[in-house]
Amino acid sequence: MSEIVYLNGEFMPLEKARIPVLDRGFIFGDGVYEVIPVYSRHPFRLPEHLRRLQHSLDAIRLANPMTDAEWTKLTHDIIARNPGEDQSVYLQVTRGVARRDHAFPAGVKPTVFMMSGPLSVPSREQVEGGVPAITATDYRWLKCDVKSISLLGNCLLRQTAMDAGAVEVVLFRDGYLTEASASNVFVVKNGVLLAPPKNHLVLPGITYDVVLELVAANGVPHAVREVPEQEVKTADEIWVTSSTKEVLAVTTLDGKAVGAGKPGAVFRRVHQLYQEFKRKVMRQAA
Ligand code: PDD
Repeated sequence: MSEIVYLNGEFMPLEKARIPVLDRGFIFGDGVYEVIPVYSRHPFRLPEHLRRLQHSLDAIRLANPMTDAEWTKLTHDIIARNPGEDQSVYLQVTRGVARRDHAFPAGVKPTVFMMSGPLSVPSREQVEGGVPAITATDYRWLKCDVKSISLLGNCLLRQTAMDAGAVEVVLFRDGYLTEASASNVFVVKNGVLLAPPKNHLVLPGITYDVVLELVAANGVPHAVREVPEQEVKTADEIWVTSSTKEVLAVTTLDGKAVGAGKPGAVFRRVHQLYQEFKRKVMRQAA
């Protein structure tokens, strides 16, 4: 069965979806996006994703083309039209089609696109054994809180990880941890979970928020503060989090073992809390 996508008011098979080459998303990367995990056909944390979408749209001065109620209905419609209990919904809004000029065009309709594919979460082997990561200098722009479709920096950085046989690249700016190419980063040092604060240098991750809520509710010692590079490089545990990776342990960094070289005790506890929380939310939604 062909994947069904939504483009500017219509549902259609993926291969029928077309946009004009002058779309500012294509020409300038002038747009924003969201990725929403779907478990048992229920979108996870949809209101939070829609709130972040609004933040991104405001940051690029683009009017939201739909109300939250309309986005919610559309998200449920795209899930219903696609196979699979667990899916990954991708939505994108660009400034629309106009003659190439850097300044914003007047009176142009934004392009709205949504698709949903299978959700590929880490394998059991990756969850139980952890994954390798490398480090790099964060050379992206200074508005990383915007979920921009201009991801060239992130793509270049991720490819350096792939080239090194690693799964992610942990980024530092001016000697401090920011995030990874497509995930947030947590570290554990002396039993305390540390997370860099949300600011313009990191994407405010939905999974990041869930993790912090869970540790607060379950008495796991934690602090949100700047994390120096040295502290990451000598951490007992390192994790990456995202809507598709969930919570995943990094067990080697630049080829060196992190802590004991296997997922740590704090990771195992929080990974379990995360899975339980997901199941609870899905039961409530059903
Ligand atoms: N990426 N940081 C960056 C740079 C990201 O691209 C992502 C997510 C995250 C984690 O955010 P969340 O927990 O809301 O997924 C952090 C998505 C999954 C992507 O681009 O595919």
